[in-house]
Amino acid sequence: MLVNSKKMLLKAKKQNQVVFQFNINNLEWTKCILEECEALKVPVILGVSESAIKYMGGYNVVSALVFSLVSDLEIKTDVCLHLDHGSSVESCRLAIEAGFNSVMIDMSKKPLQENIEIVKEVVELAKNQDVSVEAEIGSMGKITGSNLEIGTNTKKEDCMYFVSETKIDSVAAAVGTVHGIYRGKLNIDYDLIKDLASSLKVPLVLHGGSGLSLEVLKKCRDAGITKININSDIQEAWSKSVKEYLKENKEVIDPRKVIGSGFQAIKDVVREKININK
Ligand code: 13P
Repeated sequence: MLVNSKKMLLKAKKQNQVVFQFNINNLEWTKCILEECEALKVPVILGVSESAIKYMGGYNVVSALVFSLVSDLEIKTDVCLHLDHGSSVESCRLAIEAGFNSVMIDMSKKPLQENIEIVKEVVELAKNQDVSVEAEIGSMGKITGSNLEIGTNTKKEDCMYFVSETKIDSVAAAVGTVHGIYRGKLNIDYDLIKDLASSLKVPLVLHGGSGLSLEVLKKCRDAGITKININSDIQEAWSKSVKEYLKENKEVIDPRKVIGSGFQAIKDVVREKININK
């Protein structure tokens, strides 16, 4: 069933469990993630970035694709279609109009008050639409190639003020993770996570879940993270699998065989992450 993320995340927060957001890129990605979450009987958030939306053809293509797969594959588990890192109110509006169940507005690079004002506009848009809103505060790190940009962790007082002013449904706070696969040692501030999670009524979101060991993911959950976003780990696993397949099967031209050679890798990553809740 298609739902917004509010109820699933509040339930998970109460039970000290994590709901994963897995980012999707195409039909095959979506199908694999849906099938695996259905098999495991767990709710899932399908995150779509603006660049993935552009790649797939547009907001309506993405929602039609997700809604059709949920229907034709007879997916019974809760599924939330979520705009990841919306960069403008307009982008959130287009997602909501296309039927997305949830949007993230990311104005974290703006000064706090400006961030709040823009987030409020999106909350207003989502009101009465059965759409949940996530927003970000603080600045996350980023790894591109070997270049690591360190972010600035969110301050607790700012985060409390941000949530109470904007009335968002979940908050992405910078706590020391980075977007992309970083295998070095990260300074995740577990005390900050604990402090935020116990003070906030809304669920706390961890961006940049890739490259973190299962132990670290569990520690984040135990400290109070409710939603973990995973993108790069699936991309890496799929690419590795396809490259190996092509090395062994140079004559294959059927795209279903080429793309499909990475399906199990996608499903394995999804299952491995979800199993931290066991
Ligand atoms: P990773 O690429 O590190 O998994 O981050 C994903 C993410 O946070 C999407 O919003």
